[in-house]
Amino acid sequence: MKIISKVDELRKQVEKFRGAGKTIGLVPTMGALHEGHQSLVERARRENDVVVVSVFLNPTQFNNKEDLRTYPRTAEADAALLESCGVDIAFMPTVEDIYPEPDTRVFKLGPIAEVMEGAMRPGHFNGVCQIVSKLFMMVEPTRAYFGEKDFQQIAVIRAMIKQLGFNLEIVTCPCIREADGLAKSSRNVRLTPLVRKIAPNIYRVLRDSLAFAEDHTVEQTHDWVVATLNAYPEMDVEYFSICDGITLQPVNAWDESDYIVGCITVYCGDVREIDNITYKKPENL
Ligand code: PAF
Repeated sequence: MKIISKVDELRKQVEKFRGAGKTIGLVPTMGALHEGHQSLVERARRENDVVVVSVFLNPTQFNNKEDLRTYPRTAEADAALLESCGVDIAFMPTVEDIYPEPDTRVFKLGPIAEVMEGAMRPGHFNGVCQIVSKLFMMVEPTRAYFGEKDFQQIAVIRAMIKQLGFNLEIVTCPCIREADGLAKSSRNVRLTPLVRKIAPNIYRVLRDSLAFAEDHTVEQTHDWVVATLNAYPEMDVEYFSICDGITLQPVNAWDESDYIVGCITVYCGDVREIDNITYKKPENL
């Protein structure tokens, strides 16, 4: 595995592979790698001749300085994991390598980027689009891999790809969970032992809401999920949106769309956890 930090060197290496007709799979990450990332890398490994993983804690997508400051940084362990997964290139640049000049681009992606995370974390998706579009331009991957835990991020990246005309396939992979159901996340290491015990209730309540929804309205289901989770003193639901799985706009009735998901963000102590559940999905999606 080559560890590369310079953009010119990255371009040189991937151009060599592309020139030889190889397919290139890109897995963008912010490091602090866990089994969720590993599943993306393994899928990329199975589906491409060459696998590039970027490890870059992108400052422009953090609207909260404290979140950036406390984000776990585990570069050595990350490199070891990527090596063991058979990755060809680990791209580990510095902030100056990626942003030699401030990135002043503003992405206007419409309502899809304005709800939920877009509303709660102003500038977050703009930063995500800045870094992901740069990585796409640098690597020109055949395929790029993203986890379904960040449901809205995938929709936003798809919209950005359409707007900018990138020619690549987005591959999405299921959320990987701890044995007790908590979605794997780099931020989980920041949960206190007590809050770590309670956090799996997010997914438990989301799953229970599937049965609840069978004989309750969207509004009743929404309110039940929020009230059940908020009953834990350590938890505070920031938002729960039962929405169309494509447009991400809230739905008012179960028959309003044939693709309906529930997207949630919950403060567990001071750690922000996000998760989602699918209520309805057409087979062809
Ligand atoms: O999902 C993440 O880890 C980040 O948002 C991404 C896609 C790597 C961009 O920094």
